[in-house]
Amino acid sequence: MLSKEENELLTRVGPGTPAGEMLRRYWWPVGFTEHVKEKGRPVRTKLLGEDLVLFRDGNGRLGLLGLHCSHRGTSLEFGRVEDRGIGCCYHGWLYDVRGRCLEQPAEPEGSTFKDRVQHPAYQAQEIGGFIFAYIGPEPAPLLPNYDLFLREDGEREVGAGHDYCNWLQRAENSVDQTHLIALHASEYPHLALKRPVIGWERRDYGAKISMQVPGISKPKFSHWIFPSHTRHTTARKGRKPDHAIRFRVPMDDTNTMTFWLRFYPYGEEDRSKPFLLKTLGFENDQAGVYERVDDGWWGVASHDQDRVAQESQGPIYDRTKEHLGASDQGVIMLRTMIKESIDAVRHGKDPVWVLRDSAQNETIGFDASMQEIGALE
Ligand code: FES
Ligand SMILES: [Fe+2]
Repeated sequence: MLSKEENELLTRVGPGTPAGEMLRRYWWPVGFTEHVKEKGRPVRTKLLGEDLVLFRDGNGRLGLLGLHCSHRGTSLEFGRVEDRGIGCCYHGWLYDVRGRCLEQPAEPEGSTFKDRVQHPAYQAQEIGGFIFAYIGPEPAPLLPNYDLFLREDGEREVGAGHDYCNWLQRAENSVDQTHLIALHASEYPHLALKRPVIGWERRDYGAKISMQVPGISKPKFSHWIFPSHTRHTTARKGRKPDHAIRFRVPMDDTNTMTFWLRFYPYGEEDRSKPFLLKTLGFENDQAGVYERVDDGWWGVASHDQDRVAQESQGPIYDRTKEHLGASDQGVIMLRTMIKESIDAVRHGKDPVWVLRDSAQNETIGFDASMQEIGALE
């Protein structure tokens, strides 16, 4: 159970909040390479309470700017992208990817006013089909080279879904392997409501989690990547087994975007097939709307089960009312590491898993192997 103050400390993500300041030390996915074309439509996005716009200018440079024009606040989502930057639809101010104001068509000839305007501009980088943003203090850390961004011996799918709840509910789910036997009972019928043995080992990136139902399944490993991501393998009933990463991205205090990547390695027979990247983009999830089925369990379709569990905790779950048991040790460890990281930032240090050494950032693999999928079958 948390006090009201602790719950506030861990859940609030806006500018100036302790958790928000800590979370600004990381790169976060905010969009897809395929959606942001040269001189294409600008794409609106939101990260840690800040409204942003993504675009790619006519020279191929990726821009990530504050959404609202520095003149009088019109949304740059309705702007036009040109060779040199993005022009606001209201009075035509033109900004480059660094937030410099290049044109103010209605100002007097020779005016230097534009030189004194600096629009909020942030760093954006692409990897694996995603666009990542960094909105924290300089210098930015390295964007992690996770193995699934780089592997090309199979098919990679990338997409995103909106979660109508606070980021911590989604993050806590990353270390909650216990729920597999209940929430996902329809997907893992042989494990349904069987008592699991779960282990959490703290690692430099977060934690390695093992889960096993003795006598029925071999250990399945998954990884929690600080602060809110997972790297795991999935083998649900009737679905192709995959390797996956899920990034739980705090948009604001009550909205989270899950950016996901699924990788399907080619088998022996498909070895000669070329690598395939499919951008499935944003799913059309609506608040409180879930697909219902008759499965003899909770009556919720597989793809909505986690949303149901975590969104129905409330927009920001009130943890003064919870009752944690022995099987919730992972949740306690996660909160401890978040508090340690908030403290580190307060003292001018880097929080957990901020990468600055390129030797640490050659391909970052996890010992998540396809054997784990065998463990579930
Ligand atoms: S509000 Fe954008 S140019 Fe005036
Ligand atoms: Fe789940």
